[in-house]
Amino acid sequence: MFMSNLSPLQKARYAYEPKLPVVFKDEIANIAVVLGEPTESIADQIQLRGLFPLTYGAPVARFAKGSNPESAKARKIGVILSGGQAPGGHNVIAGIFDALKKANPDSTLYGFKGGPAGIIDDNLMEITGDIMNSYRNSGGFDIIGSGRTKLETEEQFEKSLATCKKHGIDGVVVIGGDDSNTNGAVLAEWFKKKNSGITIVGCPKTIDGDLKNEHIETSFGFDTATKTFSELIGNIEKDANSAKKYWHFIKLMGRSASHITLECGLQTQPNICIISEEVKEKKMSLDDVVDSMVEVIAARAAKGLNFGVALIPEGLIEFIPEVGQLISELNDLLAKEADYFATLKTVEDQREWVNHELSKDSSYVFSSLPRGIQMQLLDDRDPHGNVQVSRIETEKLLIEVVGEKLNKMKLKGKYNGSFSALAHFFGYEGRCAFPTNFDSDYCYGLGFSAFLLLSAGLTGYIANLAELQKPANQWVPGGVPLTMMMNMEQRHGERKPVIRKALVELDGAPFKAFAAQRDKWAVETDYVFPGAIQYYGPTEVCDQPTETLKLEKGA
Ligand code: FBP
Repeated sequence: MFMSNLSPLQKARYAYEPKLPVVFKDEIANIAVVLGEPTESIADQIQLRGLFPLTYGAPVARFAKGSNPESAKARKIGVILSGGQAPGGHNVIAGIFDALKKANPDSTLYGFKGGPAGIIDDNLMEITGDIMNSYRNSGGFDIIGSGRTKLETEEQFEKSLATCKKHGIDGVVVIGGDDSNTNGAVLAEWFKKKNSGITIVGCPKTIDGDLKNEHIETSFGFDTATKTFSELIGNIEKDANSAKKYWHFIKLMGRSASHITLECGLQTQPNICIISEEVKEKKMSLDDVVDSMVEVIAARAAKGLNFGVALIPEGLIEFIPEVGQLISELNDLLAKEADYFATLKTVEDQREWVNHELSKDSSYVFSSLPRGIQMQLLDDRDPHGNVQVSRIETEKLLIEVVGEKLNKMKLKGKYNGSFSALAHFFGYEGRCAFPTNFDSDYCYGLGFSAFLLLSAGLTGYIANLAELQKPANQWVPGGVPLTMMMNMEQRHGERKPVIRKALVELDGAPFKAFAAQRDKWAVETDYVFPGAIQYYGPTEVCDQPTETLKLEKGA
């Protein structure tokens, strides 16, 4: 018997029709692009104006009922998926595809394969209707693949221009995070300088939730990833409260920012939830972090509760000031001396050399870390030259050190519980889940916005949708010039224009809501079980945005 490799849910999701903002329900030719006043960057206006003379200060764009004859022109558009997977990427492409074909069925959508490398190396495919239909509302980036090549050198720009000219491509959509969109802005300026007529528009992608600001209310994928992780955390909480014998230390992806951990904390009410930004603000040492965990574990043990759940953000280690200093020295050292480092064949040689080169303080911190963590800190860097935090097993480090401290307390008669801990790391489990209805709808709308911005000849913009706490038909789509979100930052010894990364704000509503409750959650067993993401059913179950978004929007 022939067995299809499509699950019943997959088939059902292919047929799901994303909800669109009301303005997008009209014919494309009836959607006008309305421009506002010139804009300024969030900081460093003079430098940025100098670096982006042709694209700086463009007006914010929004869409309204009107006339848009330009949209009917036959076009060739290319799309790039850049960086880590985030649920909804396929729907951004579906939104571009549908808007493009609605505007003119003779238009073509190309996908650059394998991320930004695809445009540089002229590796692309046409996305046809049949191909598109087998990826709608599904997770993953497998329709064209993704990659982490940085598109930033003059030579890469030249090659990208050659690829676009060869295929007659007149617009490119870059679906990526803060770095990819920064590079998109630089490419837009460069294409304009070359009078290429090729326009660039970005879309805000990352499960990490750190590409957000006044105009970008959330990056896509954050909703699905946090709901997937929260389902798993809720299940573990249920298990912990049933067996009553384990402490679960769960590390959650999210790179530097703790948005994912905070959101999962709000959804599941664990006993411990560490927020890296708070650790940094309070200048907590590794010892302080461990003490704060031990305090909760001992308090629960005193009540006979020798189990619990602790959430740990992936980037925690970087935010502990002395470890952060060590990592930054290591990043610079390994970038500068990469060739020499590669000649060191044994781990012993590497450790000895690094210890010798580091400052006295960092060398002390490095030596005091367990050997396994030392090796993870020396692992391959990412394309930006940074340590890959997802590979550092902070959850295991904390279990080890917390366990040692509890043993010492036991000897002094200050703790009388049992501590049996299990380590988990949730990250890849959530990056390719079927997008929630929220992410399916949001991404499809972003695709429409991206197409309309390109069709209006706008370049160096990022597509956005506002009022996301409301039902999807009330969302307000538009486009924001990328330079508006930029400032100058020190990156590997140089001042560079970048989109400012959003970290958790300790005076923001989501953190405040969490901080007001956490002492209660610590000692009581107050778990919430979000359960699996629902796609079909009542709107209060299927279409809710994240707690973070609702709190930030005061909803
Ligand atoms: P992006 O910033 O590219 O969206 O990636 C997000 C992320 O999932 C981080 O949370 C994580 O640290 C990193 O990617 C893991 O990278 P890789 O996929 O290369 O293992």
